Amino acid sequence: SATLAWVVLGAYLCGSIPTAYLAAYGLKRVDIRQFGSGNVGASNAMRLLGKGWGVAILLFDAVKGLVPVLLVLHVCLAADASVQRYALAAALAALVGHVFPVWLKFRGGKGVATGLGVMTALLPLAVAIALPVFILVVAVSRYISLGSIVAAALLPGLFFINHTLPADCELFAFVCIACIFVIYKHKSNIRRIIAGEENRLGEKRPEMP
Ligand code: G3P
Repeated sequence: SATLAWVVLGAYLCGSIPTAYLAAYGLKRVDIRQFGSGNVGASNAMRLLGKGWGVAILLFDAVKGLVPVLLVLHVCLAADASVQRYALAAALAALVGHVFPVWLKFRGGKGVATGLGVMTALLPLAVAIALPVFILVVAVSRYISLGSIVAAALLPGLFFINHTLPADCELFAFVCIACIFVIYKHKSNIRRIIAGEENRLGEKRPEMP
């Protein structure tokens, strides 16, 4: 339907705002794709710009996922019988926008921050458990990527705890697909962790792609 097309387009464009790229270029005239891990994400921006900017970019990238889903759920389409379908379409489109932004030849981030945003809108209590686990894993291992992978692996298991939508197969399938996709995007990180070459939080020399 036309409504679905507008939801998908709007959420995609929102997710596709390349925050890390814009901040790195705007503040340091550096193409973030040529720096550190090469990833257009908050973690890599933090290596270049420091903790404050890294956290700010993480929050903005999460908002890019949170806002479209919340708008669909509680404002624009709350009364529509298909609200559930529209919310999942918005979540998927925002995530795809972040990972495949049209502005950067479809080469964006790994979907962690924007995934955090959409999952906060859909499964707030599950996120409230996965997020401290993420922080704990990062604090102990000093690998942001490992924290992301563990949190993503945990979410499908936490699915049955609570949701803002009825807990149906479609929602569960979305959560599983999104989490598997985020983990898949970390394949180079997994390779580096195994080889002992992954960049640790606060480490001076950022690794090259
Ligand atoms: O934000 C994605 C994070 O989990 C890994 O990023 O730059 O270390 O590959 P990066």
